[in-house]
Amino acid sequence: MFSLRNQVALITGASRGLGRALAVEFAKQGAQLVINSRSASANDLRETEAILRALNAPVLRVIADVSQRADVERLAGEALARFGRVDILVNNASALGPTPMPFLADTPIEEFENVLRTNVTAPFMLTRALIGQMLARGAGSIINVSSDAGVVGYPTWGAYGVSKAALDHMTRVWAAELEGTGVRINSVDPGDMDTAMKRASEPDGDASQWAKPETVTHVFVYLASNASNEINGKRFLAQQFAFV
Ligand SMILES: NC(=O)c1ccc[n+]([C@@H]2O[C@H](COP(=O)([O-])OP(=O)(O)OC[C@H]3O[C@@H](n4cnc5c(N)ncnc54)[C@H](OP(=O)(O)O)[C@@H]3O)[C@@H](O)[C@H]2O)c1
Repeated sequence: MFSLRNQVALITGASRGLGRALAVEFAKQGAQLVINSRSASANDLRETEAILRALNAPVLRVIADVSQRADVERLAGEALARFGRVDILVNNASALGPTPMPFLADTPIEEFENVLRTNVTAPFMLTRALIGQMLARGAGSIINVSSDAGVVGYPTWGAYGVSKAALDHMTRVWAAELEGTGVRINSVDPGDMDTAMKRASEPDGDASQWAKPETVTHVFVYLASNASNEINGKRFLAQQFAFV
Protein backbone atom coordinates (compact mmCIF):
# COMPACT_ATOMS: atom_id res chain seq x y z
CA MET A 1 0.00 0.00 0.00
CA PHE A 2 1.04 3.65 -0.26
CA SER A 3 2.40 5.33 2.83
CA LEU A 4 0.52 8.21 4.44
CA ARG A 5 3.08 8.46 7.23
CA ASN A 6 2.89 11.83 9.06
CA GLN A 7 0.17 13.06 6.70
CA VAL A 8 -2.82 14.84 8.27
CA ALA A 9 -6.13 13.79 6.72
CA LEU A 10 -9.53 15.36 7.33
CA ILE A 11 -12.43 13.07 6.40
CA THR A 12 -16.02 14.30 6.59
CA GLY A 13 -18.84 11.86 7.37
CA ALA A 14 -16.53 9.41 9.17
CA SER A 15 -19.03 8.03 11.69
CA ARG A 16 -19.97 5.06 9.50
CA GLY A 17 -19.88 3.67 5.97
CA LEU A 18 -17.17 4.70 3.55
CA GLY A 19 -15.93 7.58 5.73
CA ARG A 20 -15.17 5.26 8.64
CA ALA A 21 -13.52 2.69 6.34
CA LEU A 22 -11.31 5.43 4.87
CA ALA A 23 -10.33 6.74 8.31
CA VAL A 24 -9.31 3.25 9.43
CA GLU A 25 -7.32 2.49 6.27
CA PHE A 26 -5.62 5.90 6.32
CA ALA A 27 -4.66 5.30 9.98
CA LYS A 28 -3.21 1.90 9.06
CA GLN A 29 -1.05 3.66 6.47
CA GLY A 30 0.29 6.07 9.11
CA ALA A 31 -1.98 9.11 8.77
CA GLN A 32 -3.14 11.40 11.55
CA LEU A 33 -6.89 11.89 11.39
CA VAL A 34 -9.51 14.58 11.77
CA ILE A 35 -12.89 12.85 11.71
CA ASN A 36 -16.28 14.50 11.51
CA SER A 37 -20.02 13.95 11.44
CA ARG A 38 -23.10 15.76 12.80
CA SER A 39 -24.09 15.68 16.44
CA ALA A 40 -26.89 13.20 15.78
CA SER A 41 -24.32 10.46 15.34
CA ALA A 42 -21.84 11.55 18.02
CA ASN A 43 -21.77 8.03 19.46
CA ASP A 44 -20.93 6.47 16.12
CA LEU A 45 -18.15 8.99 15.60
CA ARG A 46 -16.82 8.13 19.05
CA GLU A 47 -16.72 4.51 17.94
CA THR A 48 -14.65 5.48 14.89
CA GLU A 49 -12.36 7.44 17.20
CA ALA A 50 -11.92 4.39 19.47
CA ILE A 51 -10.98 2.20 16.49
CA LEU A 52 -8.40 4.76 15.35
CA ARG A 53 -6.93 5.14 18.84
CA ALA A 54 -6.59 1.34 19.06
CA LEU A 55 -4.42 1.67 15.91
CA ASN A 56 -2.32 4.29 17.76
CA ALA A 57 -3.36 6.99 15.30
CA PRO A 58 -3.46 10.61 16.53
CA VAL A 59 -7.10 11.64 16.07
CA LEU A 60 -9.28 14.71 16.48
CA ARG A 61 -13.05 14.22 16.53
CA VAL A 62 -15.11 17.26 15.49
CA ILE A 63 -18.90 17.29 15.55
CA ALA A 64 -19.96 19.67 12.78
CA ASP A 65 -22.65 19.95 10.12
CA VAL A 66 -20.64 20.62 6.97
CA SER A 67 -23.66 22.19 5.27
CA GLN A 68 -23.35 25.09 7.71
CA ARG A 69 -20.74 27.77 7.07
CA ALA A 70 -19.93 28.45 10.74
CA ASP A 71 -19.48 24.72 11.38
CA VAL A 72 -17.14 24.38 8.39
CA GLU A 73 -15.01 27.26 9.61
CA ARG A 74 -14.86 25.75 13.11
CA LEU A 75 -14.00 22.30 11.70
CA ALA A 76 -11.13 23.70 9.61
CA GLY A 77 -9.96 25.90 12.49
CA GLU A 78 -9.91 23.07 15.03
CA ALA A 79 -8.06 20.79 12.60
CA LEU A 80 -5.36 23.40 11.95
CA ALA A 81 -5.10 24.29 15.65
CA ARG A 82 -4.55 20.61 16.58
CA PHE A 83 -2.20 19.48 13.81
CA GLY A 84 -0.87 22.71 12.28
CA ARG A 85 -1.82 21.62 8.79
CA VAL A 86 -4.20 19.47 6.73
CA ASP A 87 -2.49 17.59 3.88
CA ILE A 88 -5.45 15.51 2.68
CA LEU A 89 -9.12 16.46 2.54
CA VAL A 90 -11.77 13.86 1.71
CA ASN A 91 -15.19 15.42 1.07
CA ASN A 92 -17.18 12.27 1.82
CA ALA A 93 -20.24 13.41 3.84
CA SER A 94 -23.34 13.40 1.70
CA ALA A 95 -27.11 13.82 1.80
CA LEU A 96 -29.41 11.51 -0.16
CA GLY A 97 -32.58 13.59 0.23
CA PRO A 98 -36.01 12.30 1.17
CA THR A 99 -36.75 8.57 1.19
CA PRO A 100 -38.54 6.86 -0.46
CA MET A 101 -36.77 8.85 -3.16
CA PRO A 102 -39.25 11.07 -5.03
CA PHE A 103 -39.40 12.23 -8.65
CA LEU A 104 -37.97 15.71 -9.12
CA ALA A 105 -41.46 17.15 -9.53
CA ASP A 106 -42.35 15.82 -6.06
CA THR A 107 -39.12 16.88 -4.34
CA PRO A 108 -39.70 19.64 -1.78
CA ILE A 109 -37.62 22.70 -2.62
CA GLU A 110 -36.07 22.79 0.86
CA GLU A 111 -34.94 19.14 0.47
CA PHE A 112 -33.41 19.90 -2.95
CA GLU A 113 -31.55 22.86 -1.50
CA ASN A 114 -30.31 20.82 1.48
CA VAL A 115 -28.89 18.11 -0.78
CA LEU A 116 -27.10 20.72 -2.91
CA ARG A 117 -25.82 22.47 0.20
CA THR A 118 -24.44 19.27 1.76
CA ASN A 119 -23.04 17.67 -1.40
CA VAL A 120 -21.75 20.71 -3.32
CA THR A 121 -21.60 23.85 -1.19
CA ALA A 122 -20.05 22.01 1.79
CA PRO A 123 -17.11 20.59 -0.23
CA PHE A 124 -16.70 24.06 -1.78
CA MET A 125 -16.63 25.75 1.64
CA LEU A 126 -14.28 23.21 3.24
CA THR A 127 -11.90 23.16 0.29
CA ARG A 128 -11.87 26.95 0.28
CA ALA A 129 -11.11 26.98 4.02
CA LEU A 130 -8.17 24.58 3.71
CA ILE A 131 -6.64 25.26 0.32
CA GLY A 132 -4.65 28.34 1.35
CA GLN A 133 -2.37 26.44 3.73
CA MET A 134 -1.95 23.69 1.09
CA LEU A 135 -0.93 26.24 -1.56
CA ALA A 136 1.50 27.84 0.90
CA ARG A 137 3.30 24.47 1.20
CA GLY A 138 2.89 23.62 -2.50
CA ALA A 139 1.34 20.27 -1.59
CA GLY A 140 -2.04 18.79 -0.82
CA SER A 141 -4.59 16.27 -2.04
CA ILE A 142 -8.34 16.84 -2.12
CA ILE A 143 -10.64 13.93 -2.93
CA ASN A 144 -14.35 14.39 -3.63
CA VAL A 145 -16.67 11.39 -3.36
CA SER A 146 -18.86 11.15 -6.43
CA SER A 147 -21.46 8.69 -7.75
CA ASP A 148 -22.67 7.21 -11.04
CA ALA A 149 -25.94 9.04 -10.27
CA GLY A 150 -24.00 12.16 -11.29
CA VAL A 151 -23.45 10.69 -14.77
CA VAL A 152 -26.65 8.71 -15.47
CA GLY A 153 -30.07 10.36 -15.09
CA TYR A 154 -31.70 7.69 -12.91
CA PRO A 155 -35.37 8.45 -12.12
CA THR A 156 -35.88 9.51 -8.45
CA TRP A 157 -32.15 10.19 -7.97
CA GLY A 158 -32.67 13.82 -9.06
CA ALA A 159 -31.41 16.07 -6.28
CA TYR A 160 -28.58 13.69 -5.37
CA GLY A 161 -27.61 13.11 -9.02
CA VAL A 162 -27.62 16.82 -9.79
CA SER A 163 -25.40 17.42 -6.76
CA LYS A 164 -22.85 14.77 -7.74
CA ALA A 165 -22.70 16.06 -11.34
CA ALA A 166 -22.04 19.54 -9.94
CA LEU A 167 -19.39 18.16 -7.56
CA ASP A 168 -17.61 16.44 -10.46
CA HIS A 169 -17.63 19.65 -12.46
CA MET A 170 -16.39 21.68 -9.51
CA THR A 171 -13.56 19.15 -9.25
CA ARG A 172 -12.65 19.69 -12.93
CA VAL A 173 -12.72 23.49 -12.70
CA TRP A 174 -10.74 23.58 -9.47
CA ALA A 175 -8.20 21.12 -10.88
CA ALA A 176 -7.61 23.40 -13.86
CA GLU A 177 -7.11 26.35 -11.53
CA LEU A 178 -4.66 24.35 -9.35
CA GLU A 179 -2.53 23.03 -12.22
CA GLY A 180 1.17 23.41 -11.42
CA THR A 181 0.67 24.41 -7.78
CA GLY A 182 1.42 21.01 -6.23
CA VAL A 183 -2.12 20.88 -4.84
CA ARG A 184 -4.42 18.49 -6.64
CA ILE A 185 -8.09 17.58 -6.61
CA ASN A 186 -9.71 14.43 -7.94
CA SER A 187 -13.00 12.59 -7.55
CA VAL A 188 -13.83 8.95 -6.90
CA ASP A 189 -17.05 7.07 -7.61
CA PRO A 190 -16.91 4.25 -5.03
CA GLY A 191 -19.68 2.22 -6.74
CA ASP A 192 -22.47 0.39 -4.92
CA MET A 193 -21.53 -0.22 -1.27
CA ASP A 194 -23.44 -1.79 1.59
CA THR A 195 -23.97 1.27 3.78
CA ALA A 196 -26.80 3.05 5.58
CA MET A 197 -27.20 5.40 2.60
CA LYS A 198 -27.45 2.54 0.11
CA ARG A 199 -29.98 0.67 2.26
CA ALA A 200 -32.07 3.84 2.64
CA SER A 201 -32.06 4.39 -1.13
CA GLU A 202 -32.92 0.79 -2.03
CA PRO A 203 -34.62 -0.89 0.99
CA ASP A 204 -35.55 -3.91 -1.15
CA GLY A 205 -32.12 -4.19 -2.79
CA ASP A 206 -29.90 -7.26 -2.57
CA ALA A 207 -27.17 -6.16 -0.14
CA SER A 208 -25.07 -9.21 -1.05
CA GLN A 209 -24.45 -7.53 -4.42
CA TRP A 210 -22.97 -4.40 -2.82
CA ALA A 211 -19.31 -4.03 -1.96
CA LYS A 212 -18.11 -3.57 1.60
CA PRO A 213 -16.71 -0.03 1.97
CA GLU A 214 -13.42 -1.54 3.19
CA THR A 215 -12.86 -3.02 -0.29
CA VAL A 216 -12.80 0.31 -2.14
CA THR A 217 -10.35 2.27 0.01
CA HIS A 218 -7.20 1.50 -2.03
CA VAL A 219 -7.83 4.16 -4.70
CA PHE A 220 -8.33 6.78 -1.98
CA VAL A 221 -5.05 5.85 -0.31
CA TYR A 222 -3.32 6.09 -3.68
CA LEU A 223 -4.80 9.55 -4.39
CA ALA A 224 -3.93 10.75 -0.88
CA SER A 225 -0.32 9.56 -1.16
CA ASN A 226 2.68 11.12 -2.86
CA ALA A 227 2.56 8.26 -5.41
CA SER A 228 -0.17 10.20 -7.23
CA ASN A 229 1.52 13.63 -7.14
CA GLU A 230 0.99 14.10 -10.89
CA ILE A 231 -2.70 13.13 -10.84
CA ASN A 232 -5.06 16.12 -10.96
CA GLY A 233 -8.62 16.57 -12.25
CA LYS A 234 -9.31 12.88 -12.80
CA ARG A 235 -12.42 10.86 -11.96
CA PHE A 236 -11.82 7.31 -10.71
CA LEU A 237 -14.18 4.32 -10.56
CA ALA A 238 -13.04 2.61 -7.35
CA GLN A 239 -14.40 -0.83 -8.16
CA GLN A 240 -12.63 -0.89 -11.55
CA PHE A 241 -9.36 0.44 -10.19
CA ALA A 242 -6.60 -2.11 -9.67
CA PHE A 243 -2.86 -1.87 -9.23
CA VAL A 244 -0.88 -4.18 -11.52
N1 LIG B 1 -23.22 3.66 -0.58
C1 LIG B 1 -23.15 3.70 -1.89
O1 LIG B 1 -23.56 2.74 -2.58
C2 LIG B 1 -22.56 4.90 -2.57
C3 LIG B 1 -22.47 4.89 -3.99
C4 LIG B 1 -21.89 5.97 -4.64
C5 LIG B 1 -21.42 7.05 -3.89
N2 LIG B 1 -21.53 7.06 -2.53
C6 LIG B 1 -20.99 8.19 -1.79
O2 LIG B 1 -20.10 7.71 -0.79
C7 LIG B 1 -20.04 8.68 0.29
C8 LIG B 1 -20.25 7.98 1.61
O3 LIG B 1 -21.56 7.43 1.61
P1 LIG B 1 -21.99 6.21 2.55
O4 LIG B 1 -22.72 5.26 1.68
O5 LIG B 1 -20.84 5.76 3.35
O6 LIG B 1 -23.09 6.95 3.45
P2 LIG B 1 -23.51 6.81 4.98
O7 LIG B 1 -23.22 5.43 5.48
O8 LIG B 1 -24.89 7.31 5.06
O9 LIG B 1 -22.49 7.82 5.72
C9 LIG B 1 -22.59 9.20 5.49
C10 LIG B 1 -21.73 9.92 6.51
O10 LIG B 1 -21.84 11.33 6.29
C11 LIG B 1 -22.24 11.97 7.52
N3 LIG B 1 -22.98 13.19 7.19
C12 LIG B 1 -24.12 13.31 6.48
N4 LIG B 1 -24.48 14.60 6.39
C13 LIG B 1 -23.52 15.32 7.05
C14 LIG B 1 -23.34 16.70 7.30
N5 LIG B 1 -24.21 17.61 6.85
N6 LIG B 1 -22.25 17.09 8.02
C15 LIG B 1 -21.36 16.18 8.49
N7 LIG B 1 -21.48 14.84 8.26
C16 LIG B 1 -22.57 14.42 7.55
C17 LIG B 1 -23.03 10.88 8.25
O11 LIG B 1 -23.14 11.07 9.63
P3 LIG B 1 -24.37 11.91 10.24
O12 LIG B 1 -25.55 11.67 9.37
O13 LIG B 1 -24.59 11.35 11.59
O14 LIG B 1 -23.89 13.30 10.26
C18 LIG B 1 -22.17 9.67 7.95
O15 LIG B 1 -21.01 9.66 8.78
C19 LIG B 1 -21.09 9.73 -0.04
O16 LIG B 1 -20.49 10.85 -0.66
C20 LIG B 1 -22.00 9.02 -1.04
O17 LIG B 1 -22.67 9.93 -1.87
C21 LIG B 1 -22.10 6.01 -1.85
